[in-house]
Amino acid sequence: MLAKILLVVGLFGLARSVEQVRYDNYKVYNVRIDDLEQFKLLNSQESSLKLSSWREARHLGESSDLMLPPEYQETFESLLATHNFTYRIKIDNVQMHIDAQKPKQRITSMEWTQYHTLDEIYAWLDVIEERYPDIVTPFTIGDSYEGRPIRGVKISYKEGNPAVFIESNIHAREWITSATITYFIDELLVPRNPAVRDIAQNVDWYIIPVLNTDGFAYSHIVERLWRKSRLQSDPTGRCIGTDLNRNFDYLWMLIGADSHPCSEIYAGPSPESDPEISQLTAYINNSIPEGAIKIYISLHSYGQYVLSPWGHTALEFPEHYPQMMHVAKGFSDALYRRYGTEFTYGSSATTLYEVSGSGKEWAYAVKNIKIPYTIELRDKGELGFVLPPEDIIPVARELTEGFVGMIAAAREIDIL
Ligand SMILES: *[C@@H]1O[C@H](CO)[C@@H](O)[C@H](O)[C@H]1NC(C)=O
Ligand SMILES: *[C@@H]1O[C@H](CO)[C@@H](O)[C@H](O)[C@H]1NC(C)=O
Ligand SMILES: [Zn+2]
Repeated sequence: MLAKILLVVGLFGLARSVEQVRYDNYKVYNVRIDDLEQFKLLNSQESSLKLSSWREARHLGESSDLMLPPEYQETFESLLATHNFTYRIKIDNVQMHIDAQKPKQRITSMEWTQYHTLDEIYAWLDVIEERYPDIVTPFTIGDSYEGRPIRGVKISYKEGNPAVFIESNIHAREWITSATITYFIDELLVPRNPAVRDIAQNVDWYIIPVLNTDGFAYSHIVERLWRKSRLQSDPTGRCIGTDLNRNFDYLWMLIGADSHPCSEIYAGPSPESDPEISQLTAYINNSIPEGAIKIYISLHSYGQYVLSPWGHTALEFPEHYPQMMHVAKGFSDALYRRYGTEFTYGSSATTLYEVSGSGKEWAYAVKNIKIPYTIELRDKGELGFVLPPEDIIPVARELTEGFVGMIAAAREIDIL
């Protein structure tokens, strides 16, 4: 029997009881797909076995990370055996790791030893805005679909700096992204070494720690593995949410996106249908001087990648691909040198999978930002979305080192 936890949540003044989704004894399997038959077989079993994909193989020879409820595991394993799949179990009990992400005792101040809620992150933004008024300029791009403010900070030590723009946690369940980018903000305010001081003082950083505020709140309160926004666009009312990283207005719905509201990669009813995206692009258009942003980063997990355009085709590369790769190598080499963590870099379509309507593609093709990336943080799928809180500081330190290397490489080729 599943133990149900009832929470009473005050949501905009409405008291509602919310049942928290649990994953007791759910397993995550890493399954390699070697031929088309195996591919078709898995697809056909998706709903009958309640398969949920954490990461999907898009090419033969690659592996998918698939989560299954306990009651289907036996059937699934015998299916895998009969059809000669190569597989292993990566996570034995997803709920155990979700529980490990919840602090036994909440500390509301930020020490990067636990995952924080949106309210706690915003309370911390209030603190730094008050403590460093000459360096931190707060901004809000607007409200989310459900009315939560979407806040960011501009960190600037002096006028005339080139800028880097970072949006993080556009996918709700990727908690490591906001956890580490807030640490990076702290580093910029109190640099712990000269290299970080340099990139703090000589670059302006626009950072939105949680872009998908509704989804993030939902992932804390109800469904830890929620990915999308909370837009209600399905006429049947059954399926909720847009994949915000498919909702940008460039080659919207061309490839690697879905028009069905129930899909995890549902692109939304129209480009920029979701206020999170329309207001992000309006903010970049109207509130940041044209040409100021030299690097655009969309921060995600997991897989350890630095991904550049193009997402929509593996057959062509953008004009600035050599520059993109030079700077990605700078990021990747710097953190490997210091921490031994490997990040793979290349275009999305050639390195991971095809995608269109994503932030980095829009940044490049519409806004002419020459260096646009999706960065996928740790890990390579051992724990995926349920990294323990002990990993926040190590991941944040390597991200910081990566940014130092990224800026150095961008300077070498006069991007900054
Ligand atoms: C699985 O492998 C065995 C032995 O290599 C082979 O006899 C069998 O036909 C294969 N089954 C499928 C479904 O490919
Ligand atoms: C933002 O600017 C681009 C051109 O730079 C334009 O194509 C786009 O429609 C604008 N979007 C918004 C929301 O203002
Ligand atoms: Zn993501």
